[in-house]
Amino acid sequence: MTTLTTQPVARAIDGRASAEKVLLQAQQQVEQLKKQGIQPALAVILVGEDPASQVYVRNKLRAAEKTGIKSLALRFNAQLTQQELLATIDKLNRDEQINGILVQLPLPAHIDERAVVKAISPLKDVDGFHPENAGGLLQGHSVITPCTPLGCLLLLQQELGDLSGKHAVVIGRSNIVGKPMASLLLQAHCSVTTLHSRSRDAVTLSRQADIVIAAVGRPQMIDASWIKPGAVVIDVGINRLTLADGSTRLVGDIDYESVSLVAAAITPVPGGVGPMTIACLMQNTVSAALSHAKTAART
Ligand code: GUN
Repeated sequence: MTTLTTQPVARAIDGRASAEKVLLQAQQQVEQLKKQGIQPALAVILVGEDPASQVYVRNKLRAAEKTGIKSLALRFNAQLTQQELLATIDKLNRDEQINGILVQLPLPAHIDERAVVKAISPLKDVDGFHPENAGGLLQGHSVITPCTPLGCLLLLQQELGDLSGKHAVVIGRSNIVGKPMASLLLQAHCSVTTLHSRSRDAVTLSRQADIVIAAVGRPQMIDASWIKPGAVVIDVGINRLTLADGSTRLVGDIDYESVSLVAAAITPVPGGVGPMTIACLMQNTVSAALSHAKTAART
């Protein structure tokens, strides 16, 4: 007689289902605003023809439509000058009908990303990348928070409840994900370790964590050796792998197959963090519209 032993496999965290809940809440808030004669609106700027950016922008516009947010898509070719882009942002900053401005990154090399992000009004910066919002987050103020880290935090709270006292390891130190993620986790009372390409003993440190967030942009870099049994793992990576037969497949920064034999729960790619990023962008846009309405009512 043969006995089958089945290894426990990590729970797949359903980012699509969680995103639907966030979107529904945003949709209800939009309905309320519309009853007061306010139509939330988001401007999305895309410069150049980067295929991944085109997909992201299309998904953002689709989500806006679904949520009842008016969207304005501004697509420019890669030859757009920095001055032209800054002038467009200036116009949107002054347009009272626009609540959120998003410039899809990366920008062509001749444009200074920092100058562009800084030009967006912090009150309309629904990405939360403006130095005023980034600094506010670091100091624990209530500011517009970057969408991907916010989405990761919501998934973690859903999975674990109170995060207080947990050891979280963030792998990656980008301005878009790694740094704001570490700030948010610190605000949620975690002990936070940020690992990066120069970290010594990265695997040993990561294996001590209750929570691992991978945001490095390297396909399947993090395998089971990085993960403590029972940890919760969030995969921010979206990498396109070309297989031997020429077909392509989306994979994260986590080696899902090996890590799912060790972790308690893990976000899949696709269907994990991605939908949450977009849902949080809609939530940020609605929040910006609410604050604009309050400010307008006071003046
Ligand atoms: N490029 C990759 N992620 C993002 C994001 O969250 N916002 C913007 N604007 N660009 C990105």
